[in-house]
Amino acid sequence: MIYPVVIYGHPVLRKKAVEIDPETFEPEPLISDMFETMYRASGVGLAAPQIGKSIRLYVIDASPLAEDHPEMQDFKRVFINPEIVEHGENMISIEEGCLSVPNIHEDVKRYESLTMRYLNEHFEEKEEQFEGFKAIVVQHEYDHLDGIMFTDKVAPLRKRLLRAKLAAISKGKVKTDYKIITA
Ligand code: NI
Repeated sequence: MIYPVVIYGHPVLRKKAVEIDPETFEPEPLISDMFETMYRASGVGLAAPQIGKSIRLYVIDASPLAEDHPEMQDFKRVFINPEIVEHGENMISIEEGCLSVPNIHEDVKRYESLTMRYLNEHFEEKEEQFEGFKAIVVQHEYDHLDGIMFTDKVAPLRKRLLRAKLAAISKGKVKTDYKIITA
């Protein structure tokens, strides 16, 4: 099933998502549906709040970027209850976008490397280090679980320039080729 994507301005994107209880959580068909929804919208990451579910889960498949970024070749993961265990001091910025903020791309500063602990789709505990572009993608998705949008983190001057565009998106003035839910 393909879900509509919740768009900037909707309150569910600003909530702190709740931990998943592995005892009661039914991963399927939700996880498959999230991948399907993400592929349909040509995204490389999708967090549960973006389909209106305020739980600590996101999926990533960045393999479509492998042509330009070979390290993304097998970068397909499910993250349940992720935690940032540690991070380096270095910051890097890459131009980001988000299925919930259509047609906006901005540079955002993030840690160049970090270690995350999370459960995968089989509820196995994983600890994994991410660097560079991979680190950027996991931090972007992780932020969604805390109600943070990438546009919150752009430099102040750029943010001022973005204000009108974001206000328009919040009012539902937005065009996408995938189904959406606006506020
Ligand atoms: Ni996003």
